[in-house]
Amino acid sequence: MAAGLAALPLAPACAVRPLLLRFSHVVAPDTPKGQMALQFQQLVAQRSAGRIRVEVYPDSQLYGDEDELEALRLGAVELLAPSLSKFGPAGLPEFEVFDLPFLFDDLEQVHRVTQGELGRRLLARLSRQQMLGLGFMDNGFKQMSASRPLRVPADFRGLRLRVQASRVLVAQMRALGAEPVVLPFGETRRALASGVVDGAENPISNFMTQGLHELQRDLTLTRHGYLGYAIVSHPRFWDSLPAADRELLRQALAEAIAFGNHVSAALDRAALERLRRLPGLRVHELDPAERAALKQAAQPVYRNFEQRVGPELLAEVRRAAARD
Ligand code: LMR
Repeated sequence: MAAGLAALPLAPACAVRPLLLRFSHVVAPDTPKGQMALQFQQLVAQRSAGRIRVEVYPDSQLYGDEDELEALRLGAVELLAPSLSKFGPAGLPEFEVFDLPFLFDDLEQVHRVTQGELGRRLLARLSRQQMLGLGFMDNGFKQMSASRPLRVPADFRGLRLRVQASRVLVAQMRALGAEPVVLPFGETRRALASGVVDGAENPISNFMTQGLHELQRDLTLTRHGYLGYAIVSHPRFWDSLPAADRELLRQALAEAIAFGNHVSAALDRAALERLRRLPGLRVHELDPAERAALKQAAQPVYRNFEQRVGPELLAEVRRAAARD
């Protein structure tokens, strides 16, 4: 043993071990989140001259929805970007406000919440569950898919629709008349392929990059809810970094998020155009009366969740969203 150790080459005194950040996420590399993570990796490599390394693990390769927050707590990863829907079950019910159906009409409204003072306060609240919130990022608005059009509540009856583990989303599907099935993102495609579920709600980029157009005949452009992310680290890890590295990482992340938001807006349009041209998929637009009927059917969700989310927070979100 001693001889073996003696044979090991000694590291030169000046060698500095690169700092490693493992960034795990559940979607494909060619999604807004996947692209943001790769952009962040590249910026950090350039600006630290290779001293800080970011390893990106997409597609639930390392951890999935069920265990990624635990992995962060245990120090098995340093960065995550869970969708906002994943924070409610983690003990942060105020984040469920983002799941409320038909709350936002467009991304400008969302940004007035996430990119302002209220957004900063919400990120700060992540510390209650040992997370450091570093920023918000968009994916986009969700659309409904199944193998029938989903225009009015009667169309939802009898369908099992996959949702994320969010009580609001479960209630939303029930209010619309469907049966919600909670599944991790990484299991959604298989569940659709095997008939465990009949449909799902997804932003266009997730729908396309998971190949769900190969399994679903109808995509209805309901734009009924927002899907965005909070990028989080662990305070223990973050506080252990030299101030200059924290600054470098924050700056690179801010730029990567701006890039990701740009990708999100562009991909939402481009992927929809591609989907519209696919012979096997029918894309349906809602007319205003149909959208109003869905919105009306979803209203009980507000009555049930206002207390849980916090009536003041909901009012604040509405005020911020409406501000010009
Ligand atoms: C989902 O589970 O549908 C999404 O949160 C996946 C993602 O990260 O975009």
